[in-house]
Amino acid sequence: MSTTRRPLIAGNWKMNGLKKDARQLSSQLAKRMAKVNRPGFDMVVCPPFPMLALVADVIKGSGVKLGAQDNHPQVSGAHTGDTSPAMLKNVGCSYAIVGHSERRTDHGESDALVKAKAEAAIAAGMIAIVCIGETLKQRKAGRALSTNRKQLQGSLPQAATAKNTVIAYEPVWAIGTGEVATPAQAQEVHGAIRAELEKLIGAKEAAKMRILYGGSMKPGNAGELIALPDVDGGLVGGAALNAADFWAIAEAAG
Ligand code: 13P
Repeated sequence: MSTTRRPLIAGNWKMNGLKKDARQLSSQLAKRMAKVNRPGFDMVVCPPFPMLALVADVIKGSGVKLGAQDNHPQVSGAHTGDTSPAMLKNVGCSYAIVGHSERRTDHGESDALVKAKAEAAIAAGMIAIVCIGETLKQRKAGRALSTNRKQLQGSLPQAATAKNTVIAYEPVWAIGTGEVATPAQAQEVHGAIRAELEKLIGAKEAAKMRILYGGSMKPGNAGELIALPDVDGGLVGGAALNAADFWAIAEAAG
């Protein structure tokens, strides 16, 4: 966490919950957020697509922002089952997660596709949260840093700025496993990501860009992770499904 970068706490609900759950979770967060005078963090929730409009209504005016979990790289067209960035923006999304490891694995998404999706999200007026992260095999082979550098090089949108792009480092081995990166592991990768960003977009923009940690972040470990010099918040999965836990993580940020 730095004094110049405002922490971002993003909740990725993944494929969980029905209407009543989405309503309840988002209204609990909206109520808490509305009570805070000047929150020291930005908060975004990323519900499943069918819940977006409902959650948009519930959080309206509260300060909690809405995000999508994915978007198609094109504006419209014959793409059955897909959702365009313009539609997402239209229902109230100001953020879109792209390149989550579950999409890279389940849908074979390449760095080039992730980059195109991020660029489309930005063109539609949203902030792209670009996910990268190494597998356990890559880490064990001593390739954690090189894997993240390569994914960043391939996935970072053209014309990325600190205003339109957020990076999320999510080690695949930490996602949903309860096994969180140690502070030393997290800072090492976050520092390497920022150093790579300096090469790609220049030192000034790199210093302002937020880099989130994701992977088994919980109220009990969020504080020490977010306190690290190059960790600027969290992309939270399981713990984001519980309003008290998600809120506690946000409070650890500010
Ligand atoms: P968990 O917090 O459940 O490990 O998930 C992290 C994640 O994948 C967020 O995008």
